[in-house]
Amino acid sequence: MRVAILISGGGSNMTALADSMTGDHPARPVLVLSNRPDAGGLARADARGIPTAAVDHRPYKGDRAAFEAALHDTLCAAQPDLICLAGFMRVLTEGFVARWQGRMINIHPSLLPKYRGLDTHARALEAGDTEAGCTVHEVTPALDDGPILGQARVPVRAGDTPDSLAARVLEAEHRLYPAVLRRLAEGDRKRLDLPQR
Ligand code: GAR
Repeated sequence: MRVAILISGGGSNMTALADSMTGDHPARPVLVLSNRPDAGGLARADARGIPTAAVDHRPYKGDRAAFEAALHDTLCAAQPDLICLAGFMRVLTEGFVARWQGRMINIHPSLLPKYRGLDTHARALEAGDTEAGCTVHEVTPALDDGPILGQARVPVRAGDTPDSLAARVLEAEHRLYPAVLRRLAEGDRKRLDLPQR
């Protein structure tokens, strides 16, 4: 299975995914693509010998269709079987999603359906939640709403700040995303629930 990974930032999830695809793993990373040319994850991918590309969204200034056409062309050139969004911070339109539906997954830093969108950790703390976590789901046109492929849970601790909770959830993301990818690559779409750690 050929896997393209879309990032916008440091790419720690991309690294966790890429580093898992070795040995007898049935998938390999074929492209790391960022909408930010300065994303730290591009250098981390390059250091691993993974082809990289950047499609900067800024010159498109609101012309989302043209941005997504460039994204699409760059992706098609790499012929991926699966696209993993890993901290990719652009909302994708229905048209783009439709072209890749069933072949595009995302990781989101909350226990969906709670807290779609941004600021998930601040919202979980504000609500007084005792548990937080992350979700891997299929990407569908509605934001953070597709069928859930897996979740991992972590405790919320007394004194947590959005940053301390984010760090704990991120560690869970690094366990969950490679585990879900492996199952998909082996043809298993059954939901995976990792217990609280
Ligand atoms: C991760 O926490 C990921 O779940 C989140 O961005 C972070 C990226 O970190 N994604 C979203 O919020 C998507 N809406 P990383 O670049 O180190 O993988």
